[in-house]
Amino acid sequence: MNMAAKEIVVAQAFERDVLAGLSAEQKTLPCKYLYDETGSRLFEDICGLDDYYLTRTEAEIFTQQLDNIAKTLGEGVTLIEPGAGNCEKAEPLLQCMLAPAGYFPLDISPEILLKARQRIQACQPNLHVIPAIGDFTRAAVWQDLPAVTGRKVVFFPGSTIGNFNPEQARALLELFSQQLGPGDGLLLGADLVKDSVILERAYHDSNHVTEAFNKNLLHRINRELGGSFNLDAFAHRAFYHQLRQRVEMHLVSLEPQTVEVCGRKFEFEEGETIHTENSHKYTPGSLEELLRVTGFEPRQFWTDHQQHYAIYYAEAV
Ligand code: AVI
Repeated sequence: MNMAAKEIVVAQAFERDVLAGLSAEQKTLPCKYLYDETGSRLFEDICGLDDYYLTRTEAEIFTQQLDNIAKTLGEGVTLIEPGAGNCEKAEPLLQCMLAPAGYFPLDISPEILLKARQRIQACQPNLHVIPAIGDFTRAAVWQDLPAVTGRKVVFFPGSTIGNFNPEQARALLELFSQQLGPGDGLLLGADLVKDSVILERAYHDSNHVTEAFNKNLLHRINRELGGSFNLDAFAHRAFYHQLRQRVEMHLVSLEPQTVEVCGRKFEFEEGETIHTENSHKYTPGSLEELLRVTGFEPRQFWTDHQQHYAIYYAEAV
């Protein structure tokens, strides 16, 4: 499929998902649509916020434990990174790993991956950097990767696993384990359950960047689907659901209103919400259980001094 045809398919999926989500009893929009160009830039800003401890804490663990992590991964490994983005998390790891054989980043944006490949190969000219373009939650993109003779490790940092509901997280880790053989590995970053005040502050930051990130989805619908959302008539809400161990992000209608999208009308009552994201939090126990039921055996984990975040190394069995 050429790029223009791909763009049409993506636009059709967006329209279909938005119309279906707004027609549901609990209105909902898939969180992957938060990341258009503006959304991706806002997410980068979120990562630098004091209130959003996740990125900083994961980076701190990596910096402190880089040698131990590299030793644990072993020699001659090919690192595969689903959702690699600009590959900046893998770079220091690749530099510290013992004679890595290859690095295969997977993502939807070819431009960003190709730029990252140039940068990485300038520092490590002997490393085989082979990007694959596509949605890493689908088996097809994994089939584009070249065969590997040595050990492989899937690298999945950033607590991205938290944005999948429990069934989806299970299916995703099963997909990862199907790409691996016994003795291969998974290096996974995940946010841990903690005091709800800290969690809620991270998703309702005092700089209002997460609010802008959440509301940008309505702006995107207005722009791409001819929507009539009035952004001032919706408020950002984020709260920790103790039972489900997740932070939920919603957009709350501040008044009774009718909104049009693609020529269809959607009614909102005052206080009614659109559920836009879940960010699941794990305990070491729930994470280890998830790993075990998906074909992995947890071997090592590293955390920060407050135990806010964990990086796990698990072996495929
Ligand atoms: C990408 N993901 C891990 C972020 C999270 O923390 O769930 C997305 C995010 N949503 C609001 N703030 C950050």
